[in-house]
Amino acid sequence: MALRLGDVAPNFEAETSEGKINFHEYLGDGWGILFSHPADYTPVCTTELGTVAKLKDEFAKRNTKVMALSVDGLESHKGWIKDINETQSTEVNFPIIADEDRKVSELYDMIHPNSNENFTVRSVFVIGNDKKIKLIITYPASTGRNFDELLRVIDSLQLTANYSVATPANWKHGEDVVIAPAIKDEDIPAKFPKGHKVVKPYLRTTPQPDL
Ligand code: BEZ
Repeated sequence: MALRLGDVAPNFEAETSEGKINFHEYLGDGWGILFSHPADYTPVCTTELGTVAKLKDEFAKRNTKVMALSVDGLESHKGWIKDINETQSTEVNFPIIADEDRKVSELYDMIHPNSNENFTVRSVFVIGNDKKIKLIITYPASTGRNFDELLRVIDSLQLTANYSVATPANWKHGEDVVIAPAIKDEDIPAKFPKGHKVVKPYLRTTPQPDL
């Protein structure tokens, strides 16, 4: 059965460009992103992995580890990493799974045969520090991902895990947030001492509470 939000991210052991890794041990008590790309030595994937490498400090700030995957082998990954480093002016600093036997791709349903039966699509799984899946997005091979959007979602997930709020459309770190509908009006001042606005009884906003 396909994985869904709230499911525990299945654990696995895999050969990667940084050696054999147990996924849950790699995540430790932090957050994670597992993402697949169609193939090594392809242009869009080269820009994607370079972009992720350059975001190292942003992922670290969010206590988030990343791991990539394709069905290419280890030698292919190692050669391609040199190209990514050279062409994207960075150093790949995260493991890439060599999923030649498709064990992980199948576990995470990353091969969509009606799109392409030989390659993984661009799947993304964000995994919380409770090892549960918080976000699933699937992009087509022809569209490179927006990794700033993934950072934005992680900001929202980490904020809403700790406060009774949700984040509105296009929200970015630092902007006002929405008070959860479950919070009664009379409880708002104590819970959100920075103030709040009632736009409609069901739409109440407050400054981002953790700043
Ligand atoms: C790419 O990464 O450039 C790519 C991979 C598969 C299909 C189309 C583009």
